[in-house]
Amino acid sequence: MPTLYDSPRYYDLAFSYRDCDAEVEVMRACAERLGLGAPRHVLEICCGQAPHLSAWHAAGARYTGVDLSRAMLDMARQNAGRLNAEATFVEADLAAFDLPEPVDFACVLLASLYARDTAHLRAHYDAVARALAPGGLYFMEWTVDFDPMVDVIDTWEIERESVRVQASYWTRCINRVDQIYEDTLHLDIEDKGEPLVLEDTAIRRRVFPQEFLAFVAAHPRFEFVGWWNEWDLNQPIDGSKPVNRPIIIVRRVQ
Ligand SMILES: C[S@@+](CC[C@H](N)C(=O)[O-])C[C@H]1O[C@@H](n2cnc3c(N)ncnc32)[C@H](O)[C@@H]1O
Repeated sequence: MPTLYDSPRYYDLAFSYRDCDAEVEVMRACAERLGLGAPRHVLEICCGQAPHLSAWHAAGARYTGVDLSRAMLDMARQNAGRLNAEATFVEADLAAFDLPEPVDFACVLLASLYARDTAHLRAHYDAVARALAPGGLYFMEWTVDFDPMVDVIDTWEIERESVRVQASYWTRCINRVDQIYEDTLHLDIEDKGEPLVLEDTAIRRRVFPQEFLAFVAAHPRFEFVGWWNEWDLNQPIDGSKPVNRPIIIVRRVQ
């Protein structure tokens, strides 16, 4: 079966329900509220086809994207070319990249922190700490599991430009002690009547709230700033309600 990230156009379609302009507005509002001001240079880890690039470009920010998939990065480069955006793309693992100069804002979106185990996760945060200037912010979407998904199946459908995408996402536990899960994203596509099936299976080390706080408190380069539900700064997470698409922010300290 062809892999999902080798077909960025269909991936893009499957997640086109998001309002990327509004999401960039939230990230900009966080940066303003937390004293950083307007981000000047944004790093997106696991950037894929860079769906937020156009809004960052419109806001006057430089953009650097890191991703492992050449096909996704090719589509990102095409997007940047069309926009004439100041953008750089690095083909690298989320835990093994080094940038020539520091950025002031980093983000990882759509739960894309694909760290496979604890060592990989630590190496990832060390890489982000190297990439961020002191005082810089790391904005993460759904990288902490408040409502652990176990054996969950989610499905949705998108239809656009004669293409119909039926998407399914499911997760299963591989190791309860190591907190390792296998996440599958499966697309059944009909493109002008032609059927196509695409899938991606990824191993992810889940992170739970209290261990995240303990990890950040022990990290020499980060401090915890806050977390909010559903991309909404009016919904700080206090644990009393179910959590969906949370945003989490840490700051790079000296
Ligand atoms: C769900 S997509 C997210 C793309 C984009 N950020 C978005 O918001 O739509 C996840 C991306 O993570 C990339 N990826 C997966 N594992 C990675 C790793 N270990 N290092 C860097 N990129 C990785 C995939 O190639 C894919 O482009």
